[in-house]
Amino acid sequence: MIHIDDARRLYALHTARTTYAMAVDDAGRLLHLYYGPRTAAARLPQSPHNDPGCHPDLLLQEWPAPGLGDNHAPFFQPEFADGVIAADLRFAGAERSPGKYSLPGLPAFRDGEGAETLRVTLRDELGLTVTLLYGVLPDCDLITRAAIVENTGSAPVTLRGVPSAVLDFARHDLDLITFDGAWAAERTPHRAAVRPGVQGVGSVGGIPTHAHNPFVVLCAPNAGETRGSCWGAALVYSGNYRCQVESAAAGIRLSLGIEPFRFAWTLAPGERFTAPEAAFVYSDAGFGGMSRNFHNAIRRHLVPPRWADPAAPRPVLLNSWEACYFDFDEAKLLALAKAARAAHADLFVLDDGWFKGRDSDTTSLGDWTADRRKLPGGVAGLCRKINALGLDFGIWVEPEAVSPDSDLYRAHPDWALHIPGRPTLEIRHQYTLDFSRADVRENIWQQLCALLDSCPIRYVKWDMNRSLANVYSAALPAARQGEVYHRYVLGVYELQQKLTGRYPDLLLENCAGGGARFDCGMLYYSPQIWTSDNTDALDRQSIQYGTSFCYPPCVMGAHYSTVPNHITGRTASVEARMAAALTGTFGFELDLTAYTGAEIEALHPYVQFYRDHGALLRGGDLYRLAAPDGRGAAWAIAAADGSEAVVFAAGRVLDGRSLPLPFARPGVRYALHAAYTGGHADDAADGDALAALGLPLPDLRGDLPGYLCYIKTEG
Ligand code: GLA
Repeated sequence: MIHIDDARRLYALHTARTTYAMAVDDAGRLLHLYYGPRTAAARLPQSPHNDPGCHPDLLLQEWPAPGLGDNHAPFFQPEFADGVIAADLRFAGAERSPGKYSLPGLPAFRDGEGAETLRVTLRDELGLTVTLLYGVLPDCDLITRAAIVENTGSAPVTLRGVPSAVLDFARHDLDLITFDGAWAAERTPHRAAVRPGVQGVGSVGGIPTHAHNPFVVLCAPNAGETRGSCWGAALVYSGNYRCQVESAAAGIRLSLGIEPFRFAWTLAPGERFTAPEAAFVYSDAGFGGMSRNFHNAIRRHLVPPRWADPAAPRPVLLNSWEACYFDFDEAKLLALAKAARAAHADLFVLDDGWFKGRDSDTTSLGDWTADRRKLPGGVAGLCRKINALGLDFGIWVEPEAVSPDSDLYRAHPDWALHIPGRPTLEIRHQYTLDFSRADVRENIWQQLCALLDSCPIRYVKWDMNRSLANVYSAALPAARQGEVYHRYVLGVYELQQKLTGRYPDLLLENCAGGGARFDCGMLYYSPQIWTSDNTDALDRQSIQYGTSFCYPPCVMGAHYSTVPNHITGRTASVEARMAAALTGTFGFELDLTAYTGAEIEALHPYVQFYRDHGALLRGGDLYRLAAPDGRGAAWAIAAADGSEAVVFAAGRVLDGRSLPLPFARPGVRYALHAAYTGGHADDAADGDALAALGLPLPDLRGDLPGYLCYIKTEG
């Protein structure tokens, strides 16, 4: 609910459990008042600095502008035609409307029950108008923000930095948590007290990269998994970004937006620029409460509506990558598909290596037609045979990439990002296509349509295996090179929008060398993203744990793979590997042709488990019960009313432990299905005991043992 108090010029955004408030002071400045537990507007403080003479450094501001006394590290940087970088933005009006705003050409959280929008206009008399958009999604305590900057003057203005949102805190004692890593080790949380000065995370690699994620948390020093104040902030964007935290005189300032390095966007008079969306959740119930709100928001209001219903089945797939890599022919694929069918999979995904001449990662990206040596009947011929086995068919593509050794590159060398006069950097032996160009996108679009129209392809894995370098577009003049990074991202969004528009039932999974582009922007187009190339069950605990601070389990690509693991060489039990895979999208990624009939049959109960409880796994509340410590971890996914749950544990967390289940309902008896048969319970326990004493865990031993238990209220 948006509350407007005209007399106090106060604007309060209420969600189910939180309130965000701002007010206009006597000088017309838009000041931030409050973001915390839900509070009646009448009880909100007036700004402590309602004094026109107050130094700008001491003000809590909704949209700070540079050059006129605010000495924080500037993010918003409008450069006027006379070379001045400064803005004096004063309140010019506010308007509330039902429903949540959308952003043309950009991903954004979608409308929802009870959603509202507040538009606040700030004006600089010298020719700039900034419209701040606030979206309120009350059911999941989500506040979104975005901004539109318009040149209302008579000369061009160049934007050299535009935040999506700024959030000021009148305190210095907060911790910052960032989610960092590397290839095969994505999104490990790092927590430290905010220090004086500027810190933060970001990317200049054109995609978020493996190093950091465009999601951060600020929290009270005493905040933990189940208690304490925390503020989560996610950028709904998939390119260069900056999440910047500055501790200075008045407190802590969090700014999120497109990374200003190499960003310059010139607005002719009358033109506008829209900054991508940022999304915030406040919770006083610790990280668990914050995450569950983000999960609900992403599942209900961000992923494509076609896939939003947790009860809508998702296919159990087998992906060919770890089974074949580049080494296959049609007979080998069909044998693998037959084994996948025997394991009760629904969908066969042909990963990399299927197109003209692609026997290694050194060639052929950009030439999206079948290699007839491997697939004599083409993709359509293979698809027919896979379908005849009773499986749907899916395929891997990397539309943004081009190999120097490809027909596409030979025909259009200027289509790759390339700085004139400098050698172009190969990463994984490939270049990146200039997706800021409409002609380049059109060529790839036509190739994708030809592929998808040739046979019933139900699933596409859209990969992106390198970060951007040599970023310069042959199609833009020197003065506009600062637009290329952002136009590139807009180009990717445009193509994914067209793809999911033309093929509405297509299941799109994004991927970037594992999880290098795992962000809310991509989730607007695809309901799942490949979490990491590392499928080791122990490493997946920490990768999926860190990922889950913002992103729900059901969007995490997760496959059951072989042992020893191809990346770590480690061995883990079937249960531990299944626990990791069942938490996410669930599928197989291993050479099942090497399995005996009995070994394949042993996988059936897990597939059945996913079919029986998929709706709960995709739609339930995640509880991180024991954080991964390098030896093991435990977590559960529970129905919102606590009536059923799946409890997962893997590793030495099992030794002599029991797991208190905070969601278990008192006064109710639960049936426990530990050895899953699909039918009979093997034990029972009282909800009170499960909550207080915990679910007793067996004393399993061996290489990463695992435990899965489905619990349900009796009667
Ligand atoms: C990336 C992906 C893998 C696989 C390979 C194929 O690394 O993350 O899953 O698709 O590319 O080259």
